[in-house]
Amino acid sequence: MLVTGNEILQDAHEKGYGVGAFNVNNMEIVQAIIEAAEETNSPVILQASQGGLKYGGIEYVAELGKLAAKNARVPVAVHLDHGTDFQQIMLCIRHGFSSVMIDGSQLELEDNIAITKKVVEVAHAVGVSVEAELGKIGGTEDNISVDEKSATFTDPEEAKYFVDETQVDSLAIAVGTAHGVYKGEPDLDFDRIKTIRNKLDIPLVLHGSSGVSDKDIEKAISLGISKVNIDTDLRIAFTDAIKDFLREDPDNIDPRKILAPAREAMKEVIKEKMNIFGSAGRA
Ligand code: G3H
Ligand code: ZN
Repeated sequence: MLVTGNEILQDAHEKGYGVGAFNVNNMEIVQAIIEAAEETNSPVILQASQGGLKYGGIEYVAELGKLAAKNARVPVAVHLDHGTDFQQIMLCIRHGFSSVMIDGSQLELEDNIAITKKVVEVAHAVGVSVEAELGKIGGTEDNISVDEKSATFTDPEEAKYFVDETQVDSLAIAVGTAHGVYKGEPDLDFDRIKTIRNKLDIPLVLHGSSGVSDKDIEKAISLGISKVNIDTDLRIAFTDAIKDFLREDPDNIDPRKILAPAREAMKEVIKEKMNIFGSAGRA
């Protein structure tokens, strides 16, 4: 069933488990996520990034997500990931997204507050949940790129002020993760997660969670992370499976034969994540 981001994340926040938000770009990825969620009895968030919307088109992605959610036996939210444009966010809401992110993290604090407030006002009026971001998460995701030197961790005091001002539903925090493939070992600032969690009574979001060890993800969740964003790990599972298949059977020209093992490989990765995050069995 299609539910809001809030419905899923409030329960996770109250009970102390994490929910995976997985990036979708095509039908096979959507199916892999939904099958994994149903097999583990887990709530789940389907999210579309800027690149995902560009690739599939808002309408197509929205319909795909909503259909999958409607038919699913578990709660599913359809979420816009890293929205930066007010018009596009409105369009996503109009097409039935049940949750949106306004990423004003590249802006000055007061400008981030202003745009986030504006989105919250409209989204809440029509029952859509809003995620915002404070601090700068390193790495590259589609059109948003932050080099190592410019990445800045979220300031706990500022986070409190930001949430009080905007009344946003969940907050993405910068605590040492980065988008994309890590060059070295990610080094998470666990104390910062704890401090922010003590100041804020809303679900916290960890971006760039691919490539972070299971142990660190579990610890981050135990300290207050409720939403765990995963994209790169799915891309790797998908493309590795396709490469393996074509290495074995280079003359195969049937897209269904090529994509089915990729869908299966992604599903297995997602199921593992759902068990690690603690969302399995919570639907
Ligand atoms: O918003 C999406 C995520 O932050 C994905 O990050 O590709 O490093 O898993 P990732
Ligand atoms: Zn992200």
